[in-house]
Amino acid sequence: MSDTSRIGLIGLGTMGAALASNIAEKGFDIAVFNRTTQVTHDFAAGAGDLAPRITPTETLEELVAALATPRAIILMVPAGAAVDDQIDALRPLLDDGDLIIDCGNANFHDTDRRVADDRGPFLGVGVSGGEEGARHGPSIMGGGDPAHWARVEDIMLAIAAKHQGDPCAALMGPGGAGHFVKMVHNGIEYADMQMIAEVYGILRDGHGMGPDAIGDVFDAWNRGPLESYLIEISGKVAHARDVATGEPLLSVIVDAAGQKGTGRWTAIESQHRLAPVPAIEAAVVARNLSARRDERAATEDVFGPAPQAFYTLDHATLERALIAGKVLCYAQGFEMLSAATRDFGWDLPMSRIAQIWRQGCIIRSTMLDDMAAALDAQPGTNLMRTETFSAILKDNHDALRRVVAEATLNGHPTPALSSGLAYFDNMRTARGTANMIQAQRDFFGLHGFVHINGETDQHGPWAG
Ligand code: 6PG
Repeated sequence: MSDTSRIGLIGLGTMGAALASNIAEKGFDIAVFNRTTQVTHDFAAGAGDLAPRITPTETLEELVAALATPRAIILMVPAGAAVDDQIDALRPLLDDGDLIIDCGNANFHDTDRRVADDRGPFLGVGVSGGEEGARHGPSIMGGGDPAHWARVEDIMLAIAAKHQGDPCAALMGPGGAGHFVKMVHNGIEYADMQMIAEVYGILRDGHGMGPDAIGDVFDAWNRGPLESYLIEISGKVAHARDVATGEPLLSVIVDAAGQKGTGRWTAIESQHRLAPVPAIEAAVVARNLSARRDERAATEDVFGPAPQAFYTLDHATLERALIAGKVLCYAQGFEMLSAATRDFGWDLPMSRIAQIWRQGCIIRSTMLDDMAAALDAQPGTNLMRTETFSAILKDNHDALRRVVAEATLNGHPTPALSSGLAYFDNMRTARGTANMIQAQRDFFGLHGFVHINGETDQHGPWAG
């Protein structure tokens, strides 16, 4: 226990407790507070070797008094109103220069507001990696004033995951930039997970494979170009058994996925930024549809189930489809980050973002190393057109097309893979079909169109 802890932390839920332990383990004295005092005492009592670095406090006043000045306090409370309530309770107890750091999954608009509100220094920091990451090394995306970041950068670098010694933590930009990048990370996470789930569905329903055999396929893919945390855990999940029944775990889990909202925020924000992320949108829609279990059952009663088909495509084709789909969903995410740089006047460090996602976070994967290199070599280029990833797409988009086609013909939904493919096909089509849209708009509303000779505000013969 220290009289003047280097940093404070409020909120000892799963993530807060893990982050506090990580901070203490890296050698920083930390004072902690939880609304329910017993939780604070239980945390301190269970801290083992780390206890000497942890100061449990029972009131906010006690927490504030336990900190070295100027103070720095991490909030790990649920995103939304709870953060504002906590700030309201804390600010009157603090001095002008004291720093509040929100490490929750805040909406970046809220973080923008909190950074700008003039009530004192504020950082919005996206932290990815779940409980395991928070405890042993998350990926950290900071947002706010560089001078405020500099005050806690040593802590952030120390607790972050490392990729070959390089800490997966960086300041993304001002205001809500850190939480924006974390939001897009989660959008990509949704799409990546959905694509894996779609391929799982093809293996289960199209190839008639059981969970263990499917697990073997994911395990094998995790030794190839798809090597990633999400493929790794998908293999583990497929092999797992239900403790109570001994049944394969996947067989006893309801097919309705929950969500806290970050994927939905990505989809909504992408529309405002005019930055298409169709694979992410499809993943959000798929979660929403998954929740409508009764309706799906009622609709299956009307139309009958999709045929249980035995597909002709081999596992290598499915693997190649997933490779193409993954590249396309990451390309969409990075394009959304570029749009934020443009719209908000940020200078998001694109290749650095790929670098700090290489370890610690949920979407960590071997491919991100190549993405970082590609974005570094060709800044401002859509990932799908970079030298490395255009070659990968040229090799694999036919597989994606065949998988989507076969699944579609057999009535098995592949919304994220299909949306990834549609994005690819749209993007590779120099002469699209929006000339028809423009003519229609002009016909019914005289909205005007641009002539191919460059003249603007043109009208069709119906304009009179
Ligand atoms: C991470 C995760 C993390 C959390 C999400 C899950 O990067 O560590 O994204 O933030 O697991 O809250 O989001 P949903 O509940 O929306 O699936």
